[in-house]
Amino acid sequence: MRRVNRGRKERIALTLNGRKTAGDAEPRMLLSDFLRHTLGATGTHVGCEHGVCGCCTVTIDGAAVRSCLTLAVQAEGREVRTVESLAGADGKLNKLQAAFQKHHALQCGFCTPGILMSFTDYLARNPKPTEDELREVLSGHICRCTGYAGIMAALKEAAGLGGTDKADQ
Ligand code: FES
Ligand code: FES
Repeated sequence: MRRVNRGRKERIALTLNGRKTAGDAEPRMLLSDFLRHTLGATGTHVGCEHGVCGCCTVTIDGAAVRSCLTLAVQAEGREVRTVESLAGADGKLNKLQAAFQKHHALQCGFCTPGILMSFTDYLARNPKPTEDELREVLSGHICRCTGYAGIMAALKEAAGLGGTDKADQ
């Protein structure tokens, strides 16, 4: 039988939020844990750890992924972005973040980083979505505070659909 050396670590080099970095991780280590505990990118949150809630979403080479369903070793040589990458160097919120602030689209904020990263990818690929398309993407995220009306208003504003959610009309 093949023996697994649980203590063995791999050196993983990647670009995180535009800066080259590296860290050591066991082959079984999740990307979410690697980002938070090894690289200190704690803006990425961890909820369900089985791909349901969406709060751990980051982008790899521009595509949104669940970092709790991705191994750290899979990020080797890739471009990873987390919520920390969204605001400017001067702290100025980007368009999506500013819309969330304007529409009070968060309560505790636990789900927010994942939603922002999902829509960073989605709106880059589909800059003129319909409201139903926004709802479909948002359905991949669980907000425990049930603040979906505010989130939809922010998403619609960021997508150029106006900032009122139809649930409020
Ligand atoms: S923590 Fe990754 S989807 Fe819930
Ligand atoms: S704002 Fe609290 S989980 Fe969404």
